Amino acid sequence: MGKICYSALLVILILGCNNTPKKQGVSNIETTINKVQSPLQQSIDRGAVVYKKVCSQCHRPSGKGIANNYPPLAGSNWLTQKRLESIKAVKYGLKGNIIVNQKPYNGVMSAMGLNNTQVADVMNYTMNSWGNKQKEIVTPKEVASVKK
Ligand code: HEC
Repeated sequence: MGKICYSALLVILILGCNNTPKKQGVSNIETTINKVQSPLQQSIDRGAVVYKKVCSQCHRPSGKGIANNYPPLAGSNWLTQKRLESIKAVKYGLKGNIIVNQKPYNGVMSAMGLNNTQVADVMNYTMNSWGNKQKEIVTPKEVASVKK
């Protein structure tokens, strides 16, 4: 391409990018992008629904559990430090002696029949609620890889 032709193209491009309607277009796209939630946040939002339906009767909406019977999830060192064991517990159930925040529990949590996506979503919710923080998203694929 000749030099003149090339600069002409450049001018067109610059003018094209600088006109007002296009600018508005770009800022609209930016607003839309900001409004779209991250995959983690979307999973947390779905997990909140699962939690309310399936888990909150025992672990309570506050995540604090019920003294001596149902261990807490809020601030639980079990949940925050034993990622794979926690996924396994929610997927397949958990029973017998465990210690959560220095307190012994010896109860039974049955498997709840959730699919891998529901387990991932509810894990992301519990791991990011009540002060718990876990940036590394639990995916259905990770849940699928956790065997009994
Ligand atoms: C019927 C009551 C019940 C329901 C419903 C229930 N759990 Fe549990 N959960 C328990 C009990 C009891 C234990 C402790 C089991 C033990 O002592 O071995 C437990 C333990 C746990 C633990 C490991 C210990 C801790 O506190 O960190 C996690 C994580 C957990 N539950 C998450 C969930 C999630 C998520 C759901 C909903 C999908 C759920 N539970 C539903 C009763 C329940």
